[in-house]
Amino acid sequence: MSATAAQLSHVYPLGTRVNEHGRLEVGGCDAVELAREFGTPAYIVAEDDLRARARSFVEAMASCHSNFDILFASKAFPCTAVYRVLADEGLSCDVASGGELALALKGGFEAGRIYLHGNAKSETELREALAAGVGHIVLDSFDELQRLQRIAAELDCRQEVLLRVTPDVSGDTHAAISTGQADSKFGFGIDDARRAIVAVGEQPNLELVGLHCHIGSQLFELAPFRHAVEAIASLGDFPVYNLGGGLAAAYTASQHPPAVADYVDAVVTVAHDLLGTQKRLLLEPGRALVANSTVTLYTVETVKRNISTWVAVDGGMSDNLRPMLYGSVYEALIADRPLAPATERCHVAGKHCESGDVIVRDIPLPAPVPGDVVVTPVTGAYGHALANNYNGVPRPPVIFCRAGDARLVMRRETYDDLAGRDTS
Ligand code: LLP
Repeated sequence: MSATAAQLSHVYPLGTRVNEHGRLEVGGCDAVELAREFGTPAYIVAEDDLRARARSFVEAMASCHSNFDILFASKAFPCTAVYRVLADEGLSCDVASGGELALALKGGFEAGRIYLHGNAKSETELREALAAGVGHIVLDSFDELQRLQRIAAELDCRQEVLLRVTPDVSGDTHAAISTGQADSKFGFGIDDARRAIVAVGEQPNLELVGLHCHIGSQLFELAPFRHAVEAIASLGDFPVYNLGGGLAAAYTASQHPPAVADYVDAVVTVAHDLLGTQKRLLLEPGRALVANSTVTLYTVETVKRNISTWVAVDGGMSDNLRPMLYGSVYEALIADRPLAPATERCHVAGKHCESGDVIVRDIPLPAPVPGDVVVTPVTGAYGHALANNYNGVPRPPVIFCRAGDARLVMRRETYDDLAGRDTS
């Protein structure tokens, strides 16, 4: 059997196809062989896809605005090799903790290209950021403003800052990942932002260069971005505006989020209309950069038929928490017969001790049997990032595939790793 990429849904990484053996191929590598070589579960990243998406953001911006930067919102996939690729593509980086800062530096981002976010940055994290020389810190509260001024004065340095504003705009998304509403733990509301702008201006060691807003994640509609910019435009005139991330990714064949070029064109148009054409514009996509670059491979351990058909695999909510947290919907296929007629509606369940541990519900599959390699696409964003050791399950490896070469960039955790922090 052979088939073209067109027969696979658009959610798979660039270059994914069914090869001459009738198996799924990602980054030029046969998914069944990858499962054999690296074991399962495993995150498989198509490196060309990652690079292509980074370029699509940069090219889209470059075509309509000259003074810009694209920041990788690294919470989406905080893995050193991913930082390395995106640094290599010329992006800057958003980090939201001291840990992400350490990874970004290790992954090759120059400190000056790093922006530190976070609604509860600790004294230690602020000191680490200043010691590293990060380009910008995004201030999130009055307490942090005072804390940062005190530390910067003590270290006798001057730090450029942005102010995170919650513009009281809600994107149409899951409540847990909506961040622009007034009643939020993030940033300054519009009235507080006015006071914070004055307060930063009074701090000798802080220099306010601009405003930031991020209204939410997995957004399909572009109108809320205009409303957000309208709100922050009323706060004054600054050289830099960071309009956050949030562009949705397609998780299933029926989802069609705006193309990167259309999203960029829309936000730049809004910025030109409301802020003028001369500002430095920053965007910080996470999901839209990395989600579709990656698939997860699992092995079927058992197939149980009662009222439903339960296809239980060797991973689950420890490697993909999103179905449990947000009710997120995924696709699945079987690696050695991806286009075979589906004969049975199945639930792809994880191995964890909870009934809610179901990765994909009600998906037609071609007579799954134990030993089959199940593939779930679109696991690059917030997959590895949210992975955990529930039930003592070691976290999966990350494998980069490119032109038929598979490279282990992060090994699977071991049982020794699980006990690695024990003190006796
Ligand atoms: N900038 C800031 C300040 C953010 O808080 C986020 C995401 C982003 C940028 C990137 O947003 P993106 O382009 O990825 O939508 N765990 C959730 C998503 C949480 C998003 C947190 N902030 C999920 O799996 O859906």
